[in-house]
Amino acid sequence: ATEEKMYRPNFHFTPKNGWMNDPNGMFYADGYYHLYYQHYPEKSVWGPMHWGHAISKDLIKWEEQPIALYPEKDKYIFSGSAVVDTQNTSGLGTGKKAPIVAIYTLHDMTKEKGGQIDVEQQDIAYSNDNGFTWQKFEEGNPVVKNPGIRDFRDPKVNWDETHKQWIMVLAAQDRAQFYSSKDLKNWKYLSEFGKNIGAHGGVWECPDFFQIKVKGINETKWVLIQNLNPGGANGGSGTQYFVGDFDGTTFTLESNFAKKVETERAAWLDYGKDNYAGVTWNNVPAADGRRLFIGWMSNWEYAQEVPTQSWRSATTIARELEIIKKGNDYILINNPVKEINKYIGKTIKVKSLKGKGKLAIAEAGKIDFTKAIVNFNIKNLKQDTYTFTLANANGEALTFGIDNTNHYLFLDRSKSGKIDFSDKFASTITKAALEGSQKEGVFKIILDKTSIEIFYNNGEKVITEIFFPNQPYTTLSVSSNNGVELSNVEINQLNIN
Ligand code: FRU
Repeated sequence: ATEEKMYRPNFHFTPKNGWMNDPNGMFYADGYYHLYYQHYPEKSVWGPMHWGHAISKDLIKWEEQPIALYPEKDKYIFSGSAVVDTQNTSGLGTGKKAPIVAIYTLHDMTKEKGGQIDVEQQDIAYSNDNGFTWQKFEEGNPVVKNPGIRDFRDPKVNWDETHKQWIMVLAAQDRAQFYSSKDLKNWKYLSEFGKNIGAHGGVWECPDFFQIKVKGINETKWVLIQNLNPGGANGGSGTQYFVGDFDGTTFTLESNFAKKVETERAAWLDYGKDNYAGVTWNNVPAADGRRLFIGWMSNWEYAQEVPTQSWRSATTIARELEIIKKGNDYILINNPVKEINKYIGKTIKVKSLKGKGKLAIAEAGKIDFTKAIVNFNIKNLKQDTYTFTLANANGEALTFGIDNTNHYLFLDRSKSGKIDFSDKFASTITKAALEGSQKEGVFKIILDKTSIEIFYNNGEKVITEIFFPNQPYTTLSVSSNNGVELSNVEINQLNIN
């Protein structure tokens, strides 16, 4: 009961019982956003993988549904994707509704225990009732056999409108592989990408690959999202991305982006420790046109040890991905979906806040920080460190801000509350490097009971992390050595739970 009250998020999705990791198979159909997820309903640790299921009308409020896909004995249902097969290219549709086809990895635990290589293959299942009930495609599975690669998983399928084909990207150990199909059942190997490019501190998992319009200009690019574990920006699980072009067969990095990954090794979708395995929604209405993303808000370093017992893990807030062009650079930005704004209730506005020492932004009792959005601009930045502190009466605090001497954003949860369940949880300060000295910064921060999602400069740098205070944070303050200047401070109370 206390863990429900203290740690069950107000609006981030969690399964009622048991374990969750990656989001899987997301699509939109007939008014509902569907979300499936790696799920073990019986215990709050990883185990025989099912696909759990939840639906939402607005990407914010989720309703858990019956389990969608069950493992068979030692054959687990690993991560994958789903598409709305509008033209019934698969022939698996039986009625008026377009069939939904799920493509996932079947992982054979007996082979794994036997030390075999061909442990993973790609299977499909289909639904003729918009994703509420499923049939495995027994007669035709696997649709992609294991080619002799131990880590060969997490197929993500998208329709390639330019080349009129289904494209599957999957993670093959240290690279991504591309396949194409006309009917979702027969797949042809096309090419691979990524060996010796980008971050390789761990196994590549859960890719996504799609075409996207560059914001504000008449250009399109292709984005490869490539999760990896370990080797993330701040340790453990992390999400990198690549921007380039695709000719229907081969993915080629855009030239400036290629230079960037040569020098920096990787571009990160999120610098926080708790955004992993995120991929995007299929079939978002064309009139809407958004590329919508959600991640698993945890990290394999400690996910199975976090201090909740009846369930473990939440998803991130759903986000919109966009590509912007800044100078010659293509940057993937991510921001919370606008639907969150529907839940804004009371708002505290402070026109400007200026001074030295520690300044209170919100005193105790003003805002319930377990469901809030904090917005502000920080101006006239000097060579100084600007530290924001969310604190409770227990002396526990979560701090974040800008070090404008060494040029990075930071988040420190070492005094945030319960931390000693894992020595990986708070042993380092999370940093996101900034391109030189900042003059001004724009922050949007989403807070729930156990999570903070920091969107800096409209999603150019993002930090997502979880925390477990012994009582909720009640105050927010800012401090620096030489004075702080904030403008457009607006704290939104969210009416949601
Ligand atoms: C990523 C991952 C995937 C795999 C799944 C198993 O977190 O390791 O590569 O399909 O989890 O649950």
